[in-house]
Order: sequence, then C-alpha cells, then structure tokens
Amino acid sequence: MPTASFAQLPNAQPTADIIRKDILANPGFGRYFSDHMAHIRWTLDADWHGHEVRPYGPLTLDPAAAVLHYGQEIFEGIKAYRHADGSVWTFRPEKNAERFRRSARRLALPELSDEDFIGSLKALLAQDHEWVPTPSSEADECSLYLRPFMIASETFLGVRPSHEVDYYVIASPAAAYFKGGVEPVSIWLSSNYKRAAAGGTGFAKCGGNYAASLAAQKEAEAHGCGQVAFLDAAENKWIEELGGMNLFFVFKDGRIVTPKLTGTILEGVTRDSVLTLARDAGLQPEERHISIDEWREGAASGEITEVFACGTAAVITPVGELVGEDERIRCQPSDNPVAKQIRRTLLDLQYGRAEDTHGWLTRLV
Ligand code: COI
Repeated sequence: MPTASFAQLPNAQPTADIIRKDILANPGFGRYFSDHMAHIRWTLDADWHGHEVRPYGPLTLDPAAAVLHYGQEIFEGIKAYRHADGSVWTFRPEKNAERFRRSARRLALPELSDEDFIGSLKALLAQDHEWVPTPSSEADECSLYLRPFMIASETFLGVRPSHEVDYYVIASPAAAYFKGGVEPVSIWLSSNYKRAAAGGTGFAKCGGNYAASLAAQKEAEAHGCGQVAFLDAAENKWIEELGGMNLFFVFKDGRIVTPKLTGTILEGVTRDSVLTLARDAGLQPEERHISIDEWREGAASGEITEVFACGTAAVITPVGELVGEDERIRCQPSDNPVAKQIRRTLLDLQYGRAEDTHGWLTRLV
C-alpha cells in the first residue's frame, strides 16, 4: 500500500535525548507523548486534505466546537513494536482501520481510508521512531502506543453531524497497562450501571462509551478492583465486557469461550487474534452468550479453569476474581497456563520472535 503524502513539519524543540531515554526507561501508560502528531482535516466541501505531521502540542478549538458539546468523537488504540534488528512494526492495522470506519459510520463522522489510516502511522513514525522503546528482555512488553482519533471541530451548536472534522494520531511510550503486569487482576461486577444497549454505540470505539464506564470504574476502585465487568442491559444476565477489554473463559475440556458480538460489545483486535491463536494451539474457541451464572457455577465446579481479559493496551491479563455486592467468584487457584501461553505466543509474534504465519505484521520503519 503506498504511503499517503504527509507534509513533514519538524518540531524545532524536540525532547532532549537524555530526557527521552529517561522517559523510555519507565514510561508507565499514557503519561508522556512523542514530539509530533499526524493530522488530516476533513470538510464537507473538500473531503480529506492537508495531510501533515506537525509538532505535538495543544489544539486550538473554538469553545463552541461540536465535540465539546455532543461528544461526536471516535478513537483507536494500536501499538508499534521494536524488533531485535531495530525495525518497527505494527499489528493488524487494517483491522483497526476497518473498525475506525465502523465507529465513524455510527457516530456520523467521515470514513478514513486504510491508506490514510496506515499512512498516518507510518508518517508519524518516520519522525518519531526514536520514541519506540527497545524491550530489555522477552518479559518486557514496552511499546509505543498509538492513539488515532477523530473529532467534530465545527463551531456550531445545532445538533447535526459536523461539517468540519479533524483526525490526529498521537504517540505515547508504554509499559504494561496494569501495574502488576501479568499478575491476576480483581474485577468489579457492576450492578448499578450498564455499558451499552442494542442499537446504541457499544460496538463503536467512541469516547462516550468510556465516559459512561467511569462511574462504574470508580465503584470498582472503591472495592479494590482494577476493572469493571458489565452485564447486558436487556436481561442483566449475559456477560459483555470490561470497561476497556474483552473477556475469555477457559474450560477444563479445552473450550475457550468469549461473549458473542451482538452489537453491544467492542470487536477487539486482540479478541479476534486470541480466537485464532487458541485454535492454532489445539483449543476449541467458541463465540456465544455466557451468563454470569455459568461463570459462578463453572468457577465453583472447576469446569472453568481460567478467566482472562484482553485488549491492545492490556494484552492478556488473568482475572483473579470477580467481586460483586455480596459475592466473590474465583476459579480454583491456578498459574493461568492458557492465558500465559497465548500471551507469550502473541507477544513473540508482535516482537518478531516468532514467524508471522498469519501475515499480521506491517512494517512502519
Ligand atoms: C486499548 O486497549 O487500546 C484501549 O483503547 C483501551 C483503553 C482502556 C486503553
């Protein structure tokens, strides 16, 4: 695929080498940003235009910009990985580009082509490749987290799709999303809140879904949990997903089950990859409804041996327990071998330590 032509406007005051190295040694998640950002503008009359990579910095938005009032916004999460030979790669970017277009359609935003989406990642990395951390060992899951997003920037308070839109990509060096790395996390079962309903925006990656999960996330934290699990809005029975990750259940007999996509669940790229890698590993993946009772009973009987969460930011993280108002659901103690094996296979692929048999990697630099 040809790279779209992006004007390069270099930052005249880039971060000093010594400061960048310090940041890359301990980046945390989402706290530091590289020196540039990619930008493309859309207007109703002129379509997409003005492709550029310019210095990272605050945006100038009119206080009446539509996004600030009606939340017409979508985003993506995708990572850049440094391989042992110094080259930089990303993982299944065409899946993110496709999901970005699905999200755009739902939020009445303009659709961006694969060429512009992947081209914007390449153009940004052409400037900021030094921001991609080098893993210190196979256990080090550092990367450059890329955050493409699109906002309604028209100055207009009427409620209708914006006639002016801006697309950006920013980049943030990242270590493990959860401080404990691969240590099991506790999850809070939200009974007060729902994330999505049929016909709503559950499948779209829009800021509103995450904003709506924050009150439940606060509840989770108040109960000592790192994430929140949501049940479906219609029956309050079926497991959907976490605030920002999909869920998998490993059964004793080799089945591995994830909630079926019904329009209320985010179609995770990691989720889709886990389904394939599980099949490669001889497990039987199933996409189907799974109820909270099945989780309770399966954990108690030992039928369900592991539960794990997955996402671009979190990779694969075992779930230690599900905590509800009056209960704690725990699988029998285990070292989470299936989660760890799939996680290892995925990371080996992403960091170029294993053969890319599915053709999932795209070189950025
Ligand atoms: C991702 O996994 O990339 C996400 O967008 C989720 C967010 C919780 C960081």
